[in-house]
Amino acid sequence: MHNIELNNGVMIPGIGFGTYKTDYTTIKLAIDCGYRYFDTASKYENEEHVGYAIKDSGIPRQEFFVATKAWRDELGYHEAKKAFNSSLERLQMDYVDLYIIHWPKPTHDYEGWAELVMETWQAFEEIYKEKKARAIGLSNFLPHHLDVILESCEIKPMTNQLEVHPGYSQDYALAYCKENNILVQGWSPLGRERVLNHPLILELASKYKVTSAQICIRYSIQRGVVPIPKASSVERMKNNLDVFTFEIDKSDMDRLITLPQTGWSGEHPDFERVPV
Ligand SMILES: NC(=O)c1ccc[n+]([C@@H]2O[C@H](COP(=O)([O-])OP(=O)(O)OC[C@H]3O[C@@H](n4cnc5c(N)ncnc54)[C@H](OP(=O)(O)O)[C@@H]3O)[C@@H](O)[C@H]2O)c1
Repeated sequence: MHNIELNNGVMIPGIGFGTYKTDYTTIKLAIDCGYRYFDTASKYENEEHVGYAIKDSGIPRQEFFVATKAWRDELGYHEAKKAFNSSLERLQMDYVDLYIIHWPKPTHDYEGWAELVMETWQAFEEIYKEKKARAIGLSNFLPHHLDVILESCEIKPMTNQLEVHPGYSQDYALAYCKENNILVQGWSPLGRERVLNHPLILELASKYKVTSAQICIRYSIQRGVVPIPKASSVERMKNNLDVFTFEIDKSDMDRLITLPQTGWSGEHPDFERVPV
């Protein structure tokens, strides 16, 4: 697996495993399949499962890249510090590789979000300086949310996790992160299955003799985005890692990037969730 260097020099694996709605058994299988980067969150209520699966694997902790997140109700200086310690305890670890602000706002219409985010980031910077997180980052921060941090921070975020998949290209946000040397991780890289049967994805899967999921994962990688697919079976876990024997050519990438919006989760930090 290839690794990518973050803006602070820390290396992150080029594909991660999304753990939303997974438990110990699935995480253990993913370790056996070769995944070393696990994306969890306090909200997923499975940090203990991630911690135990890693311990029980017998593989040294430093070979893993563990990311967790502070949820919407854990924003604020003291709240974030408390949330971080609780996450560490549940993970049974003395550091994480990446600590993330899950969403920029407690609710989509929360007026004081900018002050709250700045305060939260200050706690994140202290956690980073204490070497309890090797990197600190964001999730679901669009350029106008990012600006609040960039204008006031001492330490720049290393990552931003966004919904990215064919049919939800997030071109503007991706370009903005690239300009600021912030690595983008793509959540729901398979559009949570919603894009796998799109005619263009099926056409390209047949052309490159791969699966629809592999087209989606390769699309992320070729855009410089680190995908974090979730899968339940060994076959799918392996399939999602087996994406380095082919390359999507430029014209096909152009078609994927300009695909009309499809498979969107309906989630946006500034608006109420749109039912899908
Ligand atoms: N930061 C955020 O706000 C945020 C939001 C959402 C998600 N995330 C993160 O992103 C991770 C991934 O996103 P996601 O779980 O929403 O969706 P996803 O990874 O896009 O898709 C997962 C779905 O695709 C299926 N699948 C996996 N591999 C497949 C394959 N090779 N062929 C066919 N189907 C396949 C899985 O089925 P089975 O499980 O049945 O195999 C599952 O239903 C999450 O687990 C979480 O860590 C973050």
